[in-house]
Amino acid sequence: MTEYRVAILTVSDKGSRGEREDLSGLAVEEEVTKSGWLVIARDIVPDEMDDIETRLRQYSDELAADLVLTTGGTGLSPRDVTPEATRHVIDREAPGFSEAMRAASLQVTPHAMLSRAVSGIRASTLIINLPGSPRAARENLEVILPALPHALEKLRGEGGECAIP
Ligand code: MTE
Repeated sequence: MTEYRVAILTVSDKGSRGEREDLSGLAVEEEVTKSGWLVIARDIVPDEMDDIETRLRQYSDELAADLVLTTGGTGLSPRDVTPEATRHVIDREAPGFSEAMRAASLQVTPHAMLSRAVSGIRASTLIINLPGSPRAARENLEVILPALPHALEKLRGEGGECAIP
């Protein structure tokens, strides 16, 4: 099994000021570790476009992460800018991940409609937005986990057929 390199970015004003424990980043780290992948970075930034973009670029360009998972800042509040920051740094969108998460989450709560999360690729790093609550982050990540190994293989230019035997 390939040990993919994963970076986790929590986007939260309160978390970045130390006023709230980063339980969603922790939840994401637990899921990633269970999958046998390596967490190479985990940080918290405020809901500021520049801070988010700087980290996403660093994870992709300097740390060569295979996968970046962000948590938080995808809703409708005025401070929610994670999707815009993500769009600024990606070269190509990969909307299927976000579509699948919203569709599955709608079975859990109608509030899934409030997520503006996006997914895309910068160079050979896949960047995926998750919602901010620990439970929602976990629920969303569980939806895409089965497709991620094949996605990351493809991104590396490896991997064979897409068909499931
Ligand atoms: N998805 C799941 N599976 N479970 C949830 O509880 N909460 C929703 C949505 N997606 C939720 C969910 C809510 S209430 C919001 S506001 C959006 O995710 C965006 O969350 P964020 O602003 O914390 O990123």
